[in-house]
Amino acid sequence: MNLEAFAKAVLLGKTIEEKLTDPRLINWDESLEYQPQRFFEPARHETIGFSDEQVKFPGKGALAHKKERAKALHFFANHELLAIEMMAQALLLFPQMSLSQKKTLVSTIADEQKHFSLYVQKMNEYGLTFGELPLNRFFWSFMEKIHTEDEFFAVISLTFEQANLDFANYYRGIFEEIGDLEISEILTIVYEDEIRHVARGKHELTQKIKNTEKDLWEYYCELLPEPLTPTRAKGMVFDQKGRQKSGLSSSYIKSLKDYRNDFSITKRKQWKK
Ligand SMILES: [Fe+2]
Ligand SMILES: [Fe+2]
Repeated sequence: MNLEAFAKAVLLGKTIEEKLTDPRLINWDESLEYQPQRFFEPARHETIGFSDEQVKFPGKGALAHKKERAKALHFFANHELLAIEMMAQALLLFPQMSLSQKKTLVSTIADEQKHFSLYVQKMNEYGLTFGELPLNRFFWSFMEKIHTEDEFFAVISLTFEQANLDFANYYRGIFEEIGDLEISEILTIVYEDEIRHVARGKHELTQKIKNTEKDLWEYYCELLPEPLTPTRAKGMVFDQKGRQKSGLSSSYIKSLKDYRNDFSITKRKQWKK
């Protein structure tokens, strides 16, 4: 299949099998030409469809119970599936990306597919099937605000994936603490891959500004569509090491660490002047 067919199988296929279409099936010698295409929502079979029903992520204490751990895995797996679908949408939305950008994005999809499968396998062992609990569309809802590939890398890689360094790091510690080393190992795999995914986003944006006066932090902030702010690129802990490993500069890391969500307050002050 060509790249377009692959992206469509992942985004518009309704089953888990289609979402997990093997990227090695892509024939890169086939045409890479297609029109930009935007889809309202990923297609999903009703058993894995989106729901507006809110489910609370289990608290630290509750994770001692396998049932609650399975629930946590269900959340993690949905995030992976959303990442897979958003990356497939980006491939379809930005046909002008270079061959190497497309190949990199496809290899990131392969990682997300691996993460999804690892979570689902463990969840199944704990007696839960993917789709048994409500699945939210939260991350997908930002897709409609993304109009350029740079905005995509800012929102996905440098915001959500970067925040996942903190989440993955935090939760692997918790699962280790409660003695579930298998989940903790999965989270370590996810964490290590996420460092590379953040690095990829950083690389894409750095390429764009290399002959300009802009620095990455400034460019990143410019690209974020409202209501997203850099606060979303952080979790409950701040993983300095992972960010350094992904190649982010110490000044970028410091700007993010120090960033406070005070935009509306600043705006109000200016308004009063
Ligand atoms: Fe992932
Ligand atoms: Fe990722």
